Amino acid sequence: MIALRPRRLRRGEVVRSLVRENRVHVEQLVQPLFVVERAGDAGPIESMPGIARLRLGEAAAEARELFSLGIRSVLLFGVPAHKDAIASGSYDADGIVQQAIREIKASLPEMLVIADLCACEYTDHGHCGVLAAGGDVDNDATVELLARVAVTYARAGADVVAPSDMMDGRVEAIRSALDAEGGRDVAIMAYSAKYASAFYGPFREAAGSTPRFGDRRGYQMDPPNAREALREIALDVDEGADIVMIKPGLPYLDVVRAARDRFDAPIAVYNVSGEYAMLHAAIANGWLDGERAVDEILTSFVRAGADIVITYHAKEYAQRHG
Ligand code: PBG
Repeated sequence: MIALRPRRLRRGEVVRSLVRENRVHVEQLVQPLFVVERAGDAGPIESMPGIARLRLGEAAAEARELFSLGIRSVLLFGVPAHKDAIASGSYDADGIVQQAIREIKASLPEMLVIADLCACEYTDHGHCGVLAAGGDVDNDATVELLARVAVTYARAGADVVAPSDMMDGRVEAIRSALDAEGGRDVAIMAYSAKYASAFYGPFREAAGSTPRFGDRRGYQMDPPNAREALREIALDVDEGADIVMIKPGLPYLDVVRAARDRFDAPIAVYNVSGEYAMLHAAIANGWLDGERAVDEILTSFVRAGADIVITYHAKEYAQRHG
């Protein structure tokens, strides 16, 4: 005789939902938004069906629609009109991200506005910082730049700044600058364990941030390393990060779990552009059931221990589950 029959608890949706261990709530999702300065840059992103580069007014309208669906947090990326070697557009008080922050907060103060903090959209060479002689990214000069940009985001009204550059020591520098310049209540969500991944391809097309030469392996993490991710997270927590992030998502669920077991800080995971594009390509071919696949993927992040899931699927998930 079989003593244990786990199938008893799978006999119908009522009992399955009674014993369900994890659920994805709409409030834990963050929708990324791309905001363009030049009207000509607006429009759909071919590799990311359903996602577009938005003009300022469209971004504010989109934020209102998201909020009405239950999405309470957005992550802003800017596509500026002007790029140069030192990313001078990034700290312009009237830069595209600063304007977008003001616009969204003015029309929807309750929306949590997170501003991605990185130089790669603003440099003509496409790297995530200013270059030293020889073409290497100058860590400490970049950290100074990021701190300066963070203050402009805080002045524009951002709730959270999210450094995604992977320079050493930037969380501490950003925290000090914010504290000194009236941004004490602005939180830092650090891209702590950001890997040098192939899965950022569609984003770089969307944001126009592909490096002109070389790659990002000199600053982003080497994919085989998991213990190093925990060291990076520990450093960011020590430096004052309020939220730590692991990125990309699906290929790094082991890192999310390890981080959850080790740290008490809120953990975010970024389900990146290439993960989205990959899934949509399969859906477009009729190779899998898109809704079930999205639900299963988002659930995997929560099951692995993430508190916050940054995902291009957020809106669509909210439309079905809000
Ligand atoms: C900026 C940045 C990138 C992403 C978020 N912030 C691109 C990169 O590092 O090349 C990727 C997001 C995505 O792929 O969805 N540094």
